[in-house]
Amino acid sequence: MKNETLNVLLTRRSVREFKSEQISDDELVTVLEAGTYAPTARGMQTPVIIAVQNPDERGAVSALNAKIQGNSGDPYYGAPTIILVLAADDRFAELNGAAVTTNMLNAAHSIGLGSCWIHRPGEMFRTDEGKAMLKKWGLDETLVGVASIALGYADCEAPAPKPRKADYYRIIK
Ligand SMILES: Cc1cc2nc3c(=O)[nH]c(=O)nc-3n(C[C@H](O)[C@H](O)[C@H](O)COP(=O)(O)O)c2cc1C
Repeated sequence: MKNETLNVLLTRRSVREFKSEQISDDELVTVLEAGTYAPTARGMQTPVIIAVQNPDERGAVSALNAKIQGNSGDPYYGAPTIILVLAADDRFAELNGAAVTTNMLNAAHSIGLGSCWIHRPGEMFRTDEGKAMLKKWGLDETLVGVASIALGYADCEAPAPKPRKADYYRIIK
């Protein structure tokens, strides 16, 4: 079967080259709102989504991620917006955060934005530096980092997907 939603799901790819031009507020809010409609365990909406566009704050987030990665490059590939997904520290934190993150990646692609899931917020927000950031932003320091997204206008062609492995799904009838 084919429809617009399936087309978005099948054609979204990770983008790793971005234009420096910032996305519009409308585009940003569209992506963030899509995140808020992801399923969450018991409908508790425990994730917290932070969009970082201020250049100094963006630089600090990138530098902390790079420090954990053990290099000095920009793990966010120059994307002008970084979205951080955190969640209340319960047994569903990672699952809820992943659902929210995936919704936003697909929403971004559906409106023509490039995005890439970027790892390490778990480690980032366990550090004193990460907790100080949360405090500065008026957030609860006990939140756990789940995922982050590099978001912006792609400055490259859409990469081709890898072939799907043959036994990815099974149907038991
Ligand atoms: C949990 C998770 C962590 C990821 N971390 C990174 C990362 O730190 N940097 C990066 O460039 N891509 C990261 N990715 C993106 C994957 O590399 C990408 O989704 C995968 O290669 C498949 O490509 P596609 O997204 O184009 O389908 C991550 C994806 C997931 C789901």
